[in-house]
Amino acid sequence: MSSALRRVLLAEPRGACAGVHRAIETVERALEVHGSPVYVRKQIVHNEHVVRELEEKGARFVDSEEEVPVGAVCIFSAHGVSPQVRGNARGRELKVIDATCPLVAKVHQEARRFARDKDTLILIGHADHEEIEGTYGEVPDRTVVVENAEEARRLDLPPGTSAAYLTQTTLSVDDTAEIVAVLHERFPGLTGPGSADICYASQNRQNAVKAIAGRSDLVLIVGSVNSSNSLRMVEVAQAAGAKARLLPGSDLLDPTWLEGVGTVGLSAGASVPEVLVERVLERLAELGFAEVETEVSATENVVFKLPPELEEQTPQEGAGGGAADDHGTVDETCAKLLDRVGTRIEELLIAEAARWSAVDARVAVPVEAIAELVAAGGKRLRPLFCVSGYLAAGGTADEDTVVDAAAALELLHVFALIHDDIMDNSPTRRGAPTVHATYAGVHAERGWAGESRRYGEGIAILAGDLALSYANRLAGRLTGPASEVWNELVTEMIIGQQLDIALAAELKPDPDLARWVAVCKSGRYTIHRPLALGASIAGRPELQAAFEEYGVAAGEAFQLRDDILDAFGDAETTGKPTGLDLSEHKMTLLIALASAKDPAVARLLEDGRHTDWNPCELRDALLASGVREEVEQRIDALVVDARAALEDALLPPGWRRRLEEMAEQVAYRDR
Ligand code: IPE
Ligand code: IPE
Ligand code: MG
Ligand code: MG
Ligand code: MG
Repeated sequence: MSSALRRVLLAEPRGACAGVHRAIETVERALEVHGSPVYVRKQIVHNEHVVRELEEKGARFVDSEEEVPVGAVCIFSAHGVSPQVRGNARGRELKVIDATCPLVAKVHQEARRFARDKDTLILIGHADHEEIEGTYGEVPDRTVVVENAEEARRLDLPPGTSAAYLTQTTLSVDDTAEIVAVLHERFPGLTGPGSADICYASQNRQNAVKAIAGRSDLVLIVGSVNSSNSLRMVEVAQAAGAKARLLPGSDLLDPTWLEGVGTVGLSAGASVPEVLVERVLERLAELGFAEVETEVSATENVVFKLPPELEEQTPQEGAGGGAADDHGTVDETCAKLLDRVGTRIEELLIAEAARWSAVDARVAVPVEAIAELVAAGGKRLRPLFCVSGYLAAGGTADEDTVVDAAAALELLHVFALIHDDIMDNSPTRRGAPTVHATYAGVHAERGWAGESRRYGEGIAILAGDLALSYANRLAGRLTGPASEVWNELVTEMIIGQQLDIALAAELKPDPDLARWVAVCKSGRYTIHRPLALGASIAGRPELQAAFEEYGVAAGEAFQLRDDILDAFGDAETTGKPTGLDLSEHKMTLLIALASAKDPAVARLLEDGRHTDWNPCELRDALLASGVREEVEQRIDALVVDARAALEDALLPPGWRRRLEEMAEQVAYRDR
């Protein structure tokens, strides 16, 4: 083999992830604050080099919390622990510092939530891995562990069992997809986490390995033998057809592996410090592989906050957090960020309008349509929840990212509204004619060729698309858990809208489906996901679980109020027509409950299939059915649920109160 052909193809991203950086820094900071020794339960991350270095600095690694002297400092490793371990630690009065990766902590919270609603929890992962031991420990009597597709096929659950699944965070994305598919096939009604549990770092590292595997004669993955994610990376390279090996350290690189090899692909598991990769690169250079090409398949800028026990500014005392007790200051911080969100949107739209009108006045029309809708106002709830999630999570750094993300949410909302108004045939929005109505009017007035309605809708479709593209542009700097939240919220809103129009077309009143639509088309992208996005940007993705529970409840309440305002509200105040849901056959919870309890309503719906739809009669029947009170009660219950969801969340008390008030404001608004 000529030396000219010898090179290294270096995968990026690779090596230590945000959770690992945080865990290592946690031990280092704990040593600074408390002095040596501090005890660490299990390997802080699965890497021998890291453990050795921390040992040299004064950390003592133990297998069990029982080995830690009573009252001493005990750090829990990145893989997380079961409630039983926490209980033991309390019993021994240990000063616990929890270095559990926030993304593992999130899975624990999901496990607790699913355990409340479901009979059985199916945990996909490796039974003997510490992470699974910890998660399993949340509900040991009702959890089963499934390691592979074969076990999923054999899994035996009693008929009628309601089940949910969760996964270890470091699995192979492809293998897990297969296991989940088998489980879905076998257990209809199975639910899973809103967005994937496999962490961003495992996903990115596996994708990066796939990207180099095809061009490598041999792929080396730096990582320790007990590192799950490193082993999965080896398997991913092998599945892509490459020869691949795990390499715990440069000293173990056997030169005979390189015989006949032209390109060595190189990456490292999520627990591996970069210095180990550098040593392997040096060793490879000595062996004739001096040329290095980097293949970048994603960028990462995820940073997690240190555990609150170590933060100089804990969530209780942090700038965003503590200030929440002082309404004046937090209002100011929030208002300042929201102001910047408004400016960000305006600047983008002004620049775009200038750019396109310089080409031809006609091409700037969709940009102007967006700008007019933005200028007409709106409650700006999505930016508010995003900024609130960020501040409640103690966010201080990364302000530009949260401003961009909040601006992205508002532009996504603009996209949703413009298209929604076409679908719902609505003439007004925010007190002005809707985009499609405006441009249909322009078309008619000018006597242009073709149908005015189609022209108006054409402009509105494009304006909506453009708003979505601007939203994605602003969301472009999100990575890791925040970008997962973004992708999920865009998708689910569109899917929710689909069921909304399908139920209207089929005149299918169904309370469960109506609630699902309310949450999916509206509650999630309005409240749950913006909060989760803000918390993730602040480096506390583990808050996603509490924010989901809060946001789904408050989000449903928000949409049920929207439905009530549509049926009985004041168009002057809401800025949109009253009675439109009824004339457009929307199968809201109001209609679904009324049709179940009142034969008069059910009859009118049935008649609507054959004869002219009669919204006025339907409205009268709705009023008479007393269903409004029922939906009001549901809203009350949801507000109670939203408050309860925050009880266990590690939030500054001031922020908890503030979020409670916000749930009430969206639930009992009049516009
Ligand atoms: C309206 O949202 C669309 C729904 C999801 C119900 P908002 O009520 O937040 O509308 P604006 O932004 O204040 O106009
Ligand atoms: C729309 O729900 C939700 C989205 C815009 C995605 P609605 O159709 O009830 O919203 P309004 O009442 O038109 O604002
Ligand atoms: Mg609508
Ligand atoms: Mg709609
Ligand atoms: Mg509505």
